[in-house]
Amino acid sequence: MVEEEAEGMVMMRRSGPYERVARMASGNAVVVFSVSGCCMCHVVKRLLLGLGVGPTVYELDQLGKGGREIQAVLSHLLSAASPSPSTSVSAAAVPAVFVGGQLLGGVDKVMSCHINGSLVPLLKQAGALWL
Ligand SMILES: *[C@@H]1O[C@H](CO)[C@@H](O)[C@H](O)[C@H]1NC(C)=O
Repeated sequence: MVEEEAEGMVMMRRSGPYERVARMASGNAVVVFSVSGCCMCHVVKRLLLGLGVGPTVYELDQLGKGGREIQAVLSHLLSAASPSPSTSVSAAAVPAVFVGGQLLGGVDKVMSCHINGSLVPLLKQAGALWL
């Protein structure tokens, strides 16, 4: 685990798009990478807003070439975090939710954390919620 994290850090420092994603992701307690018109992105945003979180949302389809590079990075990060390697090739890049600058995951992860009660404590810990 420690080694994996160290590798991730090296990767982020070396490569432009990774660095950019890391910078964007740590700009707020909660950051959502989205694509406008993406249904699951809408679901995640509604859930966070409903909990009282004001996430920073990046609509990647509105960022041109940079947005596509970011989607490639997110797709890679999410497939690396996904428990089933068979889906890694076609891993959806969005929504990708970062809490406290760390990748939480996609819609499945956010929903399962919400359902088992671990999402709100995580958001509080990151300073996204006070109550
Ligand atoms: C809740 O579910 C998430 C995602 O499956 C998991 O990572 C986390 O450890 C679980 N937490 C608790 C308190 O069960």
